[in-house]
Amino acid sequence: MDGMTRHRGESQAHPARRLRTPPANQPVGTTGGDGPAHLVVSEVTVRFAGLTALDAVSFTVAPGSVHALIGPNGAGKSTCFNVLSGVYRVTSGSVRFGGAELTSLRPHRVAALGVARTFQNIALSPHLTVRDNLMLGRHRLTRAGFVSAGLRLPSARREAVRHGARVEEIAAFAGVGEALPVPVGLLPYGVQKRVELARALCMEPRLLLLDEPVAGMNGGERREMAALIRSVRESLGISVLLVEHDMGMVMRIADAVTVLDFGRRIADGPPEEVQRDPEVVRAYLGDFDSGGLGGEA
Ligand SMILES: Nc1ncnc2c1ncn2[C@@H]1O[C@H](COP(=O)(O)OP(=O)(O)O)[C@@H](O)[C@H]1O
Ligand SMILES: [Mg+2]
Repeated sequence: MDGMTRHRGESQAHPARRLRTPPANQPVGTTGGDGPAHLVVSEVTVRFAGLTALDAVSFTVAPGSVHALIGPNGAGKSTCFNVLSGVYRVTSGSVRFGGAELTSLRPHRVAALGVARTFQNIALSPHLTVRDNLMLGRHRLTRAGFVSAGLRLPSARREAVRHGARVEEIAAFAGVGEALPVPVGLLPYGVQKRVELARALCMEPRLLLLDEPVAGMNGGERREMAALIRSVRESLGISVLLVEHDMGMVMRIADAVTVLDFGRRIADGPPEEVQRDPEVVRAYLGDFDSGGLGGEA
């Protein structure tokens, strides 16, 4: 795994990849909670009419780590994601983030705890500019501002200015600063995916859930996205859980890997160990889509 050591940390050389964490004196609700938190998935089972999509799956995402969730098609990765973001209910088991139990919460309550997600397919408004899409990403943080907009105009305007400045910082961090005035639909696919990640960052999350962030990208776009994900961890200290099909990318950027197959966890650990695990190798042999375990990112 020399590929992993070689690539670690290279993103810090990128001048735009510096972003301060928001200061403590920002308005209430502008940070996703109080500091680092573990995401603890315990014995989670999800059944759909006779089919067990997840079977007593457990894993822990450590604060400030990049954790990959991998497995062949149909393994249960998206189901797991939907559980973590409050979209699916578990049949049994628990998911805790910091002190909070997530399994009974609606998606907006999960987001309010500092868990932000992107989707496998782009979920931006194509006719709106990048700036407006990112401002929408701050909606959770600006609700008080919207309510008071007609009542206390100066304070609402000050808040809007502050959010606008933060949006510009985040856009620069994600390498989409130049694109702020451009309608999202006019941008190349790889740039749109970075805008989506930037929008999730606009929620000031503590945990970022990324569903196949490099799917459909060419080699250059993949490397750019991998560098951005590493810098999210390195310069912001945000934990990242990513579902990914591209094994080369997983092996390079993940600190820990959980492997699912037919809804069961078959391996969990550092990438170099998981990659050698005979059960993982067997699961991937039949999965020609993945390009095998040594795939190039
Ligand atoms: N809403 C649903 N209703 C019924 N079956 C589902 C639903 N979502 C997923 N499944 C089934 O659960 C299994 C796991 O699917 P999924 O989590 O999408 O796998 P992956 O993302 O790893 O490819 C599959 O057999 C899939 O058909
Ligand atoms: Mg899926």
